[in-house]
Amino acid sequence: MIPTVTLNDGTAIPQLGFGTGGVPQEDAAAVVSRALDAGYRHIDTAQRYGNEAGVGEAIARSGVPREELYVASKLADGHHARDDVLRSFDQSLAQLRFERLDLFLIHWPLPTRHGGDFVSTWTALLELVADGRLTSAGVSNFEPEHLSRIIGETGVAPVVNQIEVHPFFPNEEARAASRAHGIAVEAWAPLAKGRAVRNDVVREIAAEAGREPSQVVLRWHLQRGDIVFPKSMSGDRIVENLQVFDFELAGGQMARIDGISMGEAGRGGPHPVTYAGL
Ligand SMILES: NC(=O)c1ccc[n+]([C@@H]2O[C@H](COP(=O)([O-])OP(=O)(O)OC[C@H]3O[C@@H](n4cnc5c(N)ncnc54)[C@H](OP(=O)(O)O)[C@@H]3O)[C@@H](O)[C@H]2O)c1
Repeated sequence: MIPTVTLNDGTAIPQLGFGTGGVPQEDAAAVVSRALDAGYRHIDTAQRYGNEAGVGEAIARSGVPREELYVASKLADGHHARDDVLRSFDQSLAQLRFERLDLFLIHWPLPTRHGGDFVSTWTALLELVADGRLTSAGVSNFEPEHLSRIIGETGVAPVVNQIEVHPFFPNEEARAASRAHGIAVEAWAPLAKGRAVRNDVVREIAAEAGREPSQVVLRWHLQRGDIVFPKSMSGDRIVENLQVFDFELAGGQMARIDGISMGEAGRGGPHPVTYAGL
């Protein structure tokens, strides 16, 4: 029911998943249980969200076989040194109650920190893949120059680049650079943290299509080929955000949403070149 995208290492990732950024640890088990009940099979978490244990609890409770699930986590900003990568990855596995993780990402490149060295961090992720506890290694918030550097120095491209992408900020440059390297794009904040559902153009198209504004925005992402994982704490919205595979936007509707772009002014998060992390 949920289509998959084949990554450059031959593995497949569900194109739509559930985001857990901002879901407090005390709510995580209940919210992720709701998502699993609704039919989500791809969960996006991170060390910095502090909710991996809740995600693990929901998965253990669900009874969904491990091989039917795709779970991604991300390396926290303070863990870029090789030994911290390996140690914190073990902690993530323990919190999630897994023996193997599907996907692990460098959360931010942090070029102004750790001596500007995110290449040895990338190499440490590749060590995890080599020892079999991690299936696929990826990055997040990497600008074109960051991608060129890790690929140039190691010869290995990440499977995904998880970057801010939504109608206000389509982030075309980082998207194009990712794709040119054969890297799939994951669009974070696909609903622009809820702002996109209030946009007039989106609402107009939703009325034409007889769908919810959130569904129109998610369709726009999916038809562009990106991977999305909207976050919601609400049971109804969790279900609504999954019901996006039984309609299509016409070319003209896609173009009208493209027209919402504000370019760089539409960026909601920090700029990866200057961001120094948490
Ligand atoms: N790699 C990174 O640096 C990075 C950064 C940010 C996010 N992420 C990942 O991307 C995921 C998604 O991004 P996000 O959580 O920042 O933002 P988002 O998914 O674009 O938007 C989430 C917000 O939209 C609201 N919402 C969700 N479904 C809705 C619907 N159907 N109708 C109206 N409002 C709706 C939610 O409110 P309710 O909860 O009240 O429903 C929430 O406030 C995160 O959870 C995280 O996994 C990664």
